[in-house]
Amino acid sequence: MMAYTAKYYSNLSLISHYGRKRTDLQIGAPLYTNCSYCHQNASTAFPFVNIDLKNLENHTQRAINPSCINSSCHNAGRIHETALAKPSVDHTLCTKCHGDKSKHNGTVECYKCHGNATSKIHPILYLTSDGTFSTSNASAGDCLTCHQTDKMDWIVDNIPKVAQPLHHSEVNTGQRWGDYWNNSLSACIYCHSDTKHKAIALGRPANWRGDNIVGSSVNDSYWCAGCHYADEHNYENMVNEFSASSLNIPPEITNGTYAPNVTGFYEHVCANWSDALCRECHGKFVTSYGVTELMHDVSDGSCSNCHYDFTYMNNTRHAPTKYVNSTMFNASVHGPSSGIGCVDCHTTSNHPYPEHYWKWCECCHAVQSNPVDDTDRHNITSDVQNNMVDGVSVLGIIDCKTCHNATSYESAKTNFALCRWCHTYPDKVYE
Ligand code: HEC
Ligand code: HEC
Ligand code: HEC
Ligand code: HEC
Ligand code: HEC
Ligand code: HEC
Ligand code: HEC
Ligand code: HEC
Ligand code: HEC
Ligand code: HEC
Ligand code: HEC
Ligand code: HEC
Repeated sequence: MMAYTAKYYSNLSLISHYGRKRTDLQIGAPLYTNCSYCHQNASTAFPFVNIDLKNLENHTQRAINPSCINSSCHNAGRIHETALAKPSVDHTLCTKCHGDKSKHNGTVECYKCHGNATSKIHPILYLTSDGTFSTSNASAGDCLTCHQTDKMDWIVDNIPKVAQPLHHSEVNTGQRWGDYWNNSLSACIYCHSDTKHKAIALGRPANWRGDNIVGSSVNDSYWCAGCHYADEHNYENMVNEFSASSLNIPPEITNGTYAPNVTGFYEHVCANWSDALCRECHGKFVTSYGVTELMHDVSDGSCSNCHYDFTYMNNTRHAPTKYVNSTMFNASVHGPSSGIGCVDCHTTSNHPYPEHYWKWCECCHAVQSNPVDDTDRHNITSDVQNNMVDGVSVLGIIDCKTCHNATSYESAKTNFALCRWCHTYPDKVYE
């Protein structure tokens, strides 16, 4: 045998002469190797190539820790036994003990949030909101850190981003019709639920999504209707889902359920209930046609929000001729003093408005005992409010067919896109 020269430069350290039974390295019953003797002991005499392994902390700083030789961890090995295992650090290890947790969306590994880049789990860590790791959960990162900032991009790949700040309307903090949410994070949790440990990160909406696809184009989807329109086919599932969690149901837009009229309630009358249509009036902030951008950056739908804003109409939407000069409008006969608003003449929520949804001057101002019969159409009133048809003010009637022959109206709709080809307005310039 070769002379041993490593540390004592003599043969005195030969184990056959001086070796002793290291009971000091054993603990427990039945006996097992005291792993801490070497692995949690910076001054241990045993040489380590990887010095970090000398200073391993426990799995958690909480009172309870699993034993090193837990069968899920290093298994029941004395130090020389082959059973002594080194498990690979992935969710299959973690869920042996934390069975109620899953990878986020079924793809984001536990160690991305708990283990740092080198997947160390002694001790287990928390990804914090400044993008570093800490043993404390006090400033643990959340939905916002990943989905609204780039602080986690260094460790988690391909994080889909949503608007920062989140807007689900620009005029509220989720308190308009009840206690829905009061900051961005509670908004995420309201709609999605706390899905960081869920295989389906979408959370709640997954239960009524139907054929809708996450991140799709607005042209193919009905996400908004799922929460806001009572006749959407999965609407009941949505109601049940929020009720089951004792949360308020989102405001409905055709009958006012769940949304008492606090804003001059706008009754939506739409030919379809697609996200593309909602985007027409609620998409002032968005530039893409992706539903994700719209969903997390909804704007107030009031007509003036866009039409009074020349910069927006001109630069963003390239529709300068659809700008409405508010000073002139307000000074006009149909300004605020008239008591009517844009939607009294542009009568539905289809937008931009097909002309067959516009009321012409006579529709309000012509007094006819029988509106379908034209003979008295020159009997004009300025008192529109009291211009009644069957006891109802003309202002309250928005269905054209109440006053016009249904067959003729339908046939006009079928045959002509522009009613103005023949029916003209007083501002028409004749050449
Ligand atoms: C007598 C000291 C000593 C004791 C006691 C000891 N180890 Fe080790 N262990 C080492 C050394 C030395 C290494 C090699 C480290 C290196 O090369 O940096 C090691 C390596 C390991 C590794 C591989 C680490 C890696 O990253 O590849 C695991 C796992 C391990 N030990 C688990 C245990 C467990 C579990 C126990 C208790 C059952 C235990 N050890 C007890 C000294 C010890
Ligand atoms: C052998 C069982 C076991 C395994 C495997 C295990 N844990 Fe734990 N873990 C525990 C126990 C026990 C606690 C302490 C629980 C308590 O006190 O509430 C804990 C606590 C935690 C904590 C809270 C830590 C703190 O200090 O706040 C986190 C986070 C955690 N584990 C994540 C993980 C991850 C990630 C994995 C996989 C890499 C994992 N655990 C693997 C048993 C295990
Ligand atoms: C997207 C990041 C993320 C992923 C992925 C993740 N966690 Fe967590 N985890 C957290 C955050 C943040 C907390 C702190 C929550 C708190 O204290 O409110 C936490 C807390 C914990 C806790 C302690 C709280 C408790 O409920 O006991 C355990 C245990 C835990 N995670 C285990 C796991 C396991 C196991 C996995 C993988 C199956 C995993 N985590 C995946 C972010 C994540
Ligand atoms: C550590 C970063 C991180 C945190 C924290 C985090 N996520 Fe995610 N999330 C991701 C990544 C990465 C993906 C993409 C996963 C994939 O492609 O499968 C994702 C996907 C999603 C998706 C898309 C689901 C789908 O069907 O495509 C939703 C919704 C989501 N997260 C919501 C949340 C919510 C809500 C929270 C807070 C409770 C949260 N996330 C916290 C990283 C994170
Ligand atoms: C998961 C359910 C849910 C989905 C999906 C949803 N909303 Fe909402 N929405 C709500 C809730 C809840 C409120 C009430 C917020 C409040 O009280 O301020 C709301 C409020 C609104 C408001 C009024 C905000 C205000 O303060 O005036 C508009 C406009 C709106 N949503 C449009 C949309 C559009 C457009 C979509 C599709 C891109 C959509 N919503 C998808 C739940 C949802
Ligand atoms: C023609 C424009 C227009 C279209 C298209 C439109 N909205 Fe609105 N919306 C409004 C106006 C105006 C209001 C009332 C002002 C406000 O508070 O935003 C409103 C209000 C809302 C509100 C708040 C509750 C209420 O009824 O006051 C919700 C929710 C809403 N809209 C959802 C939608 C959804 C979902 C779609 C698509 C199916 C949609 N809107 C399409 C103009 C429109
Ligand atoms: C009003 C309800 C609502 C609120 C509030 C909300 N979400 Fe969503 N979110 C949805 C719906 C519905 C979808 C699925 C449709 C889509 O792609 O936008 C979605 C999709 C997502 C996606 C998937 C994006 C993609 O393209 O893969 C992520 C990530 C996400 N939300 C994160 C968040 C975060 C983070 C918050 C809080 C800042 C939040 N959401 C707030 C309803 C909401
Ligand atoms: C998100 C911004 C936005 C909101 C809110 C909005 N509009 Fe518009 N509107 C536009 C744009 C942009 C156009 C030009 C569309 C085009 O040319 O495709 C337009 C076009 C129109 C037109 C012209 C239709 C035509 O055929 O010439 C009318 C009328 C109109 N809007 C009325 C309204 C009324 C009434 C409201 C409120 C109920 C409203 N808009 C809300 C942006 C908006
Ligand atoms: C008294 C009825 C009435 C009211 C109120 C009204 N409009 Fe109009 N609007 C019309 C008629 C009629 C036209 C078509 C005029 C024409 O083509 O000569 C029109 C045209 C428009 C156009 C298209 C302009 C163009 O040149 O194509 C827009 C945009 C518009 N209105 C927006 C609004 C907005 C926004 C409001 C509220 C601030 C509003 N309107 C209020 C009757 C009305
Ligand atoms: C939606 C119903 C409606 C439509 C359509 C409508 N108006 Fe009016 N108009 C009113 C109301 C309401 C008043 C205010 C009456 C009052 O002050 O009591 C008014 C007032 C007027 C006045 C002022 C009358 C006075 O004596 O002060 C004139 C002029 C007028 N409208 C012309 C028109 C013309 C021209 C059109 C077509 C371009 C038109 N209106 C379309 C509802 C309407
Ligand atoms: C309250 C009854 C009433 C309602 C509702 C009504 N109208 Fe009228 N409308 C009239 C009357 C009265 C006239 C003028 C007399 C006539 O031509 O019968 C008229 C005239 C018209 C004309 C001819 C205008 C011209 O100068 O050539 C058109 C076009 C028209 N209406 C379209 C509509 C459309 C589109 C709707 C639905 C958005 C509608 N009306 C809703 C009562 C109504
Ligand atoms: C090609 C010319 C032309 C076009 C385009 C046109 N109309 Fe007419 N419309 C007429 C004429 C002419 C009359 C009167 C003759 C009649 O009553 O039969 C009329 C009558 C009407 C009336 C009946 C008014 C009353 O007396 O009750 C309504 C309503 C009407 N049109 C609606 C529309 C609508 C809505 C559109 C656009 C979708 C439209 N029209 C397009 C020529 C046209």
